[in-house]
Amino acid sequence: MGQIDTLPAWADDLSVDVDILDEDHQAFFRLAALMQDVTSAQDSDQGYIIETAIHILEEYIEGHFLREEKALTEIDYPHLAEHIAEHDAFADQVARVIKEYRNTGEATTLVTLSHLVAEWLTGHIQTMASQFKGLLTNANVDDRPLVYMAAGVDAELAP
Ligand SMILES: [Fe+2]
Ligand SMILES: [Fe+2]
Repeated sequence: MGQIDTLPAWADDLSVDVDILDEDHQAFFRLAALMQDVTSAQDSDQGYIIETAIHILEEYIEGHFLREEKALTEIDYPHLAEHIAEHDAFADQVARVIKEYRNTGEATTLVTLSHLVAEWLTGHIQTMASQFKGLLTNANVDDRPLVYMAAGVDAELAP
C-alpha cells in the first residue's frame, strides 16, 4: 500500500488504573490496528470488514465516552467540561473521516482513521486522562458492557 506506518499502541504506562477504562482504551488501539491491516487486505470482504470496524468504532466512541463522562460527573470532576469537549471534537473528526471514506470508497482513508484514533487516544490519555488517575477507581466506574452505556439511559447527561 505504499506506506508502512507505525501506529501508536497500548503500553502499560497508558494505564489509568481503572480496569474497564484500560480495556476500552486497549480495544480502540486494536481497532485502529485492524483498520490499518484491512486496507492492505485484497479480498472481496474488505468493504464489509471496513464497515463492521467503523460500526464498532462508533459504538466504542459513544459507549466509552458515556462511561467515562458519567463517572467523571459522579465524582464532580473539576475538568469535566474540557474533557467532554475533547471527546466531542474527536468524535466530530472521526465522523468527518468516515464520511469521506463513504463518499470516496477509498480504503486508504482508513489508514487516516486508524492514525487519528491511535494518535488522539495516546495524547488524550497522556494529558487529559492522566488528570483523573486516582480519582476514578474500579469502584466508581460503571463496568457493564458498552451496550448499556450506549443505550443512553443516563438522565444526568441528557442536554
Ligand atoms: Fe477514555
Ligand atoms: Fe476521555
